[in-house]
Amino acid sequence: MRLAFITSNPGKVEEAKEYFEPLGIEVYQLSYSYPEIQADTLEEVAEYGARWLAEKISGPFFLDDSGLFIEALNGFPGVYSAYVYRTLGIGGILKLMEGFSDRSAYFKSIIAYWDGELHIFGGRVDGEITAEPRGEGGFGFDPIFRPRGSDKTFAEMTTEEKNLISHRGKALKVFASWLRENL
Ligand code: IMP
Repeated sequence: MRLAFITSNPGKVEEAKEYFEPLGIEVYQLSYSYPEIQADTLEEVAEYGARWLAEKISGPFFLDDSGLFIEALNGFPGVYSAYVYRTLGIGGILKLMEGFSDRSAYFKSIIAYWDGELHIFGGRVDGEITAEPRGEGGFGFDPIFRPRGSDKTFAEMTTEEKNLISHRGKALKVFASWLRENL
């Protein structure tokens, strides 16, 4: 089986392959841009995108909508993470965090899978925003996110290590086991 992952982010595809290759499912990247609506939740953004794409793409596909939620900033950047990453970047987030002692944050990932019907899977990881960026791996906010219970930021981990604990890793795991049972 071949499964399209609709994303412009090759880092996300690398993470997904780790879960699907062992199942004999070939995940490939399809860079098809779709509207990311302004909404309060990742679920709404993912669902709208998947239903929109379902009218353009034949065959099963999935997409992932993720965000970084910082407690001291009332959940910001949250659903605006992609925009904030492009505009303020990591430096901008560190600047916003100056003066806050509570640096707790979490990443959340919502996967929307379309096979003629919509299926939603989610995952979350709690941790902290570090004082400075560390590590060269991963993508996005990885250099400033240290998951709880680890000394390393996501950017200091291998894909395998990150997957074991990350928001997307958890969502992919639920998705992969659902597929195993439902294919
Ligand atoms: P989107 O899901 O592609 O809209 O991503 C939202 C934003 O969150 C992007 O700017 C990503 O860089 C960031 N992001 C999503 N997942 C991760 C992750 O696993 N690590 C670091 N940043 C992430």
